[in-house]
Amino acid sequence: MQLIKMHLIDADKRYVWHPYTQMLDWMRWDNKVIVDAKGFYLIDSKGKKYLDGIASMWCNVWGHSDNEVLKSMSKQIRTVPHSTLFGLASAPSVILAQRLLMLCKGMQKVFYSDNGSTAIEVAMKIAVQYWHNKGKRKKKYFISLENGYHGDTFGAMSLGYLPKFFRPYRHLLLKVYKAPKPRASDQTTADDSNSDLEDVEKIVSEHKDSCAALIMESGAQIAGGGIIYKKGYQRRISELCRQYGLLFILDEIATGFGRLGNMVEYIAQQSRPDIVCLGKALTGGYSPLAVTLTTEEIYNAFLGQYKDGKHFSHGHTFTGHAVGCAAGITNIELFNKYKLIERIRDNAHYLCKRLKELDSPIVSNPRQKGLFAAFELKQNNKPITIMQNNENLQYFVMHESMKMGVILRPLGNTMVVIPPLAISRRDLRRIMDVQMCLVKRIEKECK
Ligand SMILES: Cc1ncc(COP(=O)(O)O)c(C=O)c1O
Repeated sequence: MQLIKMHLIDADKRYVWHPYTQMLDWMRWDNKVIVDAKGFYLIDSKGKKYLDGIASMWCNVWGHSDNEVLKSMSKQIRTVPHSTLFGLASAPSVILAQRLLMLCKGMQKVFYSDNGSTAIEVAMKIAVQYWHNKGKRKKKYFISLENGYHGDTFGAMSLGYLPKFFRPYRHLLLKVYKAPKPRASDQTTADDSNSDLEDVEKIVSEHKDSCAALIMESGAQIAGGGIIYKKGYQRRISELCRQYGLLFILDEIATGFGRLGNMVEYIAQQSRPDIVCLGKALTGGYSPLAVTLTTEEIYNAFLGQYKDGKHFSHGHTFTGHAVGCAAGITNIELFNKYKLIERIRDNAHYLCKRLKELDSPIVSNPRQKGLFAAFELKQNNKPITIMQNNENLQYFVMHESMKMGVILRPLGNTMVVIPPLAISRRDLRRIMDVQMCLVKRIEKECK
């Protein structure tokens, strides 16, 4: 067994192309292959344990050991692993839809897809076809916020254009008007966001006749550097969309399901979307499933005679995958059963306290909401991206945290805390201890 596991490390380097990774660097690294898990820990082929400090790219809720969500998934696999939603319905997809619509007030229909990016593509297509079906065919472009991120497929890249990632594809991207990015704040700051909003209103009013919708992340921009919206900011943009006749699409893929301390972030933000995208924690982080929710008003615009072609031409092989839906149903039940939102809020107070203890001249703008925190590392007001020994900061944090038994992944020079949502206080403490230790080491390096 040991021999086979050792081979896995070499086979990974030989055969697997990793996401967002310079593979030449990967070849030099002591790569880890995960073969087992216990609680919130992942275990590699050499038997070393790592606390999953990034919730397996921000989606894990309950950890990695056997639990009720996994049991319901294996029960579903034994019953019907997958049957299509093309021409048929499946029990788990019906039940999950019902449960989601009970949570997501104002939404009345659920369209299933496989991951966050495809949920965004679905939202874009629905928005454009909504206006097309209503005879307003000029309304076909989008407005999004600078610095937003919505996924890696072409539509999603167009909305969340980050030059650092997407420059080679720029010539193929769709026309999207950019409203200025929100200014960073913590959620307790009073509503003083008027100047941000004046600029958004300018773009919205200017392009209202050619745009189908405005899209933004709900509650905070995460991948674009962790900007938590000021109070009232999202609500006001929702009102602007209504005022100027644009659909309002909210991307809750990273921020929904408790990440910011609320089960449904758009409700907490007192905003009124027409379309909402969910993914990541929807299934507890166990299955590639995502949803695009819409209002009845949107859905009704797709009704008509078949020959009129008003129906929505979209679907994936695994749309509404039964195992993912079974996971989603149990996941929502467990949020209630274990009062997870209360636990998240409790841990959020602790996270806030620990963030205040970050006492270092290189730490800039620490901020937090729910189980999300971020701060920048800067020296002389400039981002620290390369350390004095010429090492890339992101690599340094990833490798040194692993040596300390915790998986961390900063976003450039922004350190982020995005743990599994049901993490214990003890494990959260460990993540913060390692973050603090790394900050001190980077501070020393920068002297
Ligand atoms: C806000 C947001 N939208 C969309 C996506 C894309 O989701 P996926 O990676 O599942 O395609 C992400 C991924 O991180 C995200 O953070």
